[in-house]
Amino acid sequence: MPENLLSEFVAAIPMPALMVDQTERIIAANSDAKTLLAQNIEGRHFATILRQPQVIEAIEQCLRTKGSAKTRHLSNDGAQDTTFKVECRYMNGVGAVCGGAMLATFQDVTHLEQASQMRRDFVANVSHELRTPLTALMGFIETLRGPARDDVNARERFLQIMTDEANRMNRLVGDLLSLNRVESEERVRPKAQVELTGLLRSTLNSLRPLAEDGDVELSLTAPEDPVSLAGDSDQLRQVFTNLIENGIKYGGSGGSVEVRVMSSERDSAMRGPAVRVQVIDRGPGIDSVHLPRLTERFYRADSHRSRQLGGTGLGLAIVKHIINRHRGRLRVESELGKGTTFTVILPL
Ligand SMILES: Nc1ncnc2c1ncn2[C@@H]1O[C@H](COP(=O)(O)OP(=O)(O)OP(=O)(O)O)[C@@H](O)[C@H]1O
Ligand SMILES: [Mg+2]
Repeated sequence: MPENLLSEFVAAIPMPALMVDQTERIIAANSDAKTLLAQNIEGRHFATILRQPQVIEAIEQCLRTKGSAKTRHLSNDGAQDTTFKVECRYMNGVGAVCGGAMLATFQDVTHLEQASQMRRDFVANVSHELRTPLTALMGFIETLRGPARDDVNARERFLQIMTDEANRMNRLVGDLLSLNRVESEERVRPKAQVELTGLLRSTLNSLRPLAEDGDVELSLTAPEDPVSLAGDSDQLRQVFTNLIENGIKYGGSGGSVEVRVMSSERDSAMRGPAVRVQVIDRGPGIDSVHLPRLTERFYRADSHRSRQLGGTGLGLAIVKHIINRHRGRLRVESELGKGTTFTVILPL
């Protein structure tokens, strides 16, 4: 095959690709390969361009055996580390010398790697979260069978702790299922009409006992007129339940949680009509280092306190997915010692 045909052929491959002949020089490379490796690589010895030992090894092996070889090429695109699957194949009768050359293609598998890393992290997190209460349960069962068998007081106390731990596992499984459901519906736009002020009023009412237990004052400020939007009322109730519950739990006793509703014809974030619901507490606040990661599954800013309060760390992850489904936005502002404001912006 003449050299210019080779270049045309390599240029048509829809991923980085290059050819190396038996003189170990690069005889053709497409523009994706030049973007990945370097410009002007044609004519250079391949090992001066591809310096990773496993890649050099694969190319050498392919040229030597006139067969095939596979490996990985690691890179960085400026924003993140990237991984490419490299396939080397020998082509007989191609190139100017010794009747053959090899073709190396670089398939970007970064997303696959990230997805499987996320899956591994997720399984590790879930197992860890379930194991903690399970270990406690097993410990208490052991104690109740042995040393505390006839101790009525201890038995009562242990059964209470066991109930709490079992509830915690139950909540965790419930949260995981609801996260799964929300995620699977994320692309389906909700169609029902929801009146927001009424929904917030009833959400606050159902949280009143929790607020009273924690000695927290609840209040609602909303416009006179009803605020209606297309939404899923159960899911929106869950959003505000999670946010207000956080305000009550982390805002501290003697504090207050204020809910404010404001609608506008032209919201700066949505570039159109939208409603903003703010959930404001005057608690200890959240350190700004935590803010970007707050909506990740199992992320806790103050993990000791969250666990003590029975939190699973899934509340805000669920909130984020529901708001995404409603094409809305979630904002957090917090100042240490002053309090936290979560703002939900929903298009009208
Ligand atoms: N209003 C708030 N003030 C201070 N910290 C907060 C507030 N809201 C959330 N946080 C922090 O963010 C973390 C994540 O909150 P999230 O609701 O996702 O989980 P959780 O409350 O720990 O558990 P869950 O809501 O599943 O019971 C919390 O653990 C807490 O550290
Ligand atoms: Mg929470």
